[in-house]
Amino acid sequence: MFLKGSGTGFEEMLLKYVYKDPKPLTGTELKALASNVGRLSSLLTRERETLPVAYLKNEALRRAYLLYFLPSNLDKIHIPLHELSLHPSKALSKQSLRILDIGSGPGTAILGIMGFFSAKEKRPVLEFTAIDQVKENLRDSEALFGLFRERVSIAATLKTIKSSMEMASSFPKGPYDIIVLSNILNEVAHPDEDRTSKRVAILKTVLSDLLAPDGSCIIIEPALRQTSRDMLEVRDGLLDEGFCIYSPCLMGEKCPALQNPKDWCHEDIAWEFPEIVREVDSLTGLRKDSLKFSYLVLRKDGLSIKDIYGDSSFRVVSESLVSKGKIEFYVCGKEGRRMVTRLDKDKTIKNKAFEDLMRGDIVGFEGVIDEGKRLRVGKETNVVSLDERICCQRR
Ligand SMILES: C[S@@+](CC[C@H](N)C(=O)[O-])C[C@H]1O[C@@H](n2cnc3c(N)ncnc32)[C@H](O)[C@@H]1O
Repeated sequence: MFLKGSGTGFEEMLLKYVYKDPKPLTGTELKALASNVGRLSSLLTRERETLPVAYLKNEALRRAYLLYFLPSNLDKIHIPLHELSLHPSKALSKQSLRILDIGSGPGTAILGIMGFFSAKEKRPVLEFTAIDQVKENLRDSEALFGLFRERVSIAATLKTIKSSMEMASSFPKGPYDIIVLSNILNEVAHPDEDRTSKRVAILKTVLSDLLAPDGSCIIIEPALRQTSRDMLEVRDGLLDEGFCIYSPCLMGEKCPALQNPKDWCHEDIAWEFPEIVREVDSLTGLRKDSLKFSYLVLRKDGLSIKDIYGDSSFRVVSESLVSKGKIEFYVCGKEGRRMVTRLDKDKTIKNKAFEDLMRGDIVGFEGVIDEGKRLRVGKETNVVSLDERICCQRR
């Protein structure tokens, strides 16, 4: 899988907005930026338990977010949107879409959504409402929205509201076709609270009151083991409240990754990353050479990605595990999380696609051998990579 990235024009747009100058950064500017990216990265990972509430009020950290984290977060939403657009019910084919972005920051997901629809032949009118508790973020999101709309020429409006997510009852009334929470869920609730219950309760209110009956809620979280597992706990809590999972899961039961404390579920997609990200990485030792994230799409109406791929398909949920004489993957489907193995001696033309599978792919196995502890791809097993269509369109 490969995501194209937003291109050099986008990087220039950000530089022009942040430094009022589209020229490449001087060595001193770059070092200052790298140091702030390093600081923000620690706050969002190792020090996340003590993350100050309004950390993006700090101008240097906000600048670091805009130039380093925004470009990489921007395109993640393309994957859930693409998966929604594949459904035969044409879930996204409306003349206009009302979209609520909660914890919008500088409008990352809003720009990502505009980018996604601007590449389509039929483009809906996009009516965005952005909510964030930091007014400086909303100011950035308004400016970037205006600049980006000119670039992609799409009919879109944006209303911004300074509010905390907990005040959902005072948000502009829905129904919204899409509600986005991109990298905010892990910032809601203190470490000493019962975070899952609090997050489920807030989301239940948001979705019950504001999501259209045929709407979708897209949650994106960092791919850290803890934040990803926390999201899966929320997933299970919302299932108990009667909401349904559209994707990435091909099953609607409790998440099997939670059974083993070492497991979690995330995407890892190659992308064309901007020069500035490359330069910051070389100074900080950070690595943004692929997009790693966990995501979840929830609905009220029971539509699911398995309506497209069938009940017996699996999602690949690991890298390939190559050892002497075999290749293995973890896959997840209606029977939960299973290991699937192909011995090198069993490689045939029928199962050749097995070795090309990648994390996130959807795959079908005809004639797979169930050995109890694991599934085995034999000489006669037909391996069909079902989402090649997704890969092609992701490119
Ligand atoms: C990591 S940033 C993510 C920004 C953007 N959604 C993205 O994906 O790039 C988290 C954002 O959520 C906002 N935020 C955190 N907790 C919030 C809350 N309880 N209510 C509203 N906004 C909140 C922060 O101010 C920040 O802008």
